[in-house]
Amino acid sequence: MKVAVLAERIVGERRVAAVPETVRKLVGLGASVSVEAGAGLGASVADGAFVSAGAGVGDRLAVLAGAELILGVQGPDPASLAGARPGAWLAAGLNPFGAGPEGGRAKVDGYAAAGIEALAMEFMPRITRAQSMDILSSQSNLAGYKAVLDAAAEYGRAFPMMMTAAGTISAARVFVMGVGVAGLQAIATARRLGAQVSATDVRSATREQIQSLDAKPIFVENVAGIEGEGSGGYATEMSPEYQRAQAELVSGHIAKQDIVITTALIPGRAAPRLISDAQIASMRPGSVIVDLAVESGGNVEGAVPGEVVERHGVKIVGHRNVPSRLAADASALFARNLFNFLAAFWDKEQGRPVLDAEIGDAIRLTRGGKVVHPRLFQ
Ligand code: NAI
Repeated sequence: MKVAVLAERIVGERRVAAVPETVRKLVGLGASVSVEAGAGLGASVADGAFVSAGAGVGDRLAVLAGAELILGVQGPDPASLAGARPGAWLAAGLNPFGAGPEGGRAKVDGYAAAGIEALAMEFMPRITRAQSMDILSSQSNLAGYKAVLDAAAEYGRAFPMMMTAAGTISAARVFVMGVGVAGLQAIATARRLGAQVSATDVRSATREQIQSLDAKPIFVENVAGIEGEGSGGYATEMSPEYQRAQAELVSGHIAKQDIVITTALIPGRAAPRLISDAQIASMRPGSVIVDLAVESGGNVEGAVPGEVVERHGVKIVGHRNVPSRLAADASALFARNLFNFLAAFWDKEQGRPVLDAEIGDAIRLTRGGKVVHPRLFQ
């Protein structure tokens, strides 16, 4: 089967959906791989490296001609997919609930109309056998790491305690709100840089994880219904009572922090608001807040997607697409997620992947000219 790897067109997207290693492995499975010229440049992969790995390189029309499988990082414009085989698969992060050029329902409708079978890789179920195919995990892990480095770059002080001849510098206090994949990596990274770290989450299972990284858990106690864990290990929306108790606890704690990293998300809903303007005003000038949820509505009042703003002397960092800021590693992991997915379902006789119902139904948005995913009808 012919696999097309597209160059990303969304502004600020530097990642690529295949790297030479995964091209080599796809060729090993019997696929022919065709990469759009320049697709890897943002991730430091030259066209020649793809060619050495066994791929052809060409313009988009040539790459798509006869393609049965299209790989992308974000969803391409449906109108730009002419030439692919009818029924061709598109595997990418499709963001069907997003707004703007990155995603949205209109794009999904476009794939259906174009006869493309669109597979939303971010809908991969969180089951053990799909862990190696999980783009949310691989990219969030890097985002959590980069968030700490972005905070350190904006912070006019050092992270570790330093005893120098000129005097002692105290360690930065870092507070991580939301301890999923990104939050855990943020804790680990801030600890490695020598900060004093504390963290909170609504899922009580994270308490031990925080402690195991040598950080201090900050948890709301004695409020009914605090077990904020819903299906698939994700968070649920909390009761007003819990939200009040959390705001109070956070207010006391946040005023003493130098750096706050927020990562809280609730699948299918706007991100919960965790930090108010009044709480920002209570922080010491020069403090830094990084809102990793800024593109999903934001955890922090006043955070602006794509900007670093200052409120009450506190910098609020709202970078978009943080994984793309580490494009080489993010691409390598994303590409491996895609390869692991394809390889797991590869049917040798047919020379192509054949999905089972558990994973196929979870990720398939369109088929046979129609939108088929139940979440798109809710
Ligand atoms: P996420 O990106 O959806 O959310 C980030 C964190 O924010 C979560 O820990 C969530 O509980 C927390 N949060 C939500 N509302 C909050 C609030 N109001 N205050 C404080 N924190 C709040 O989560 P992510 O990183 O995708 O992980 C979710 C779960 O899925 C974790 O338990 C993780 O271990 C699990 N997981 C399982 C995998 C598998 O089995 N294949 C793969 C990856 C993650």
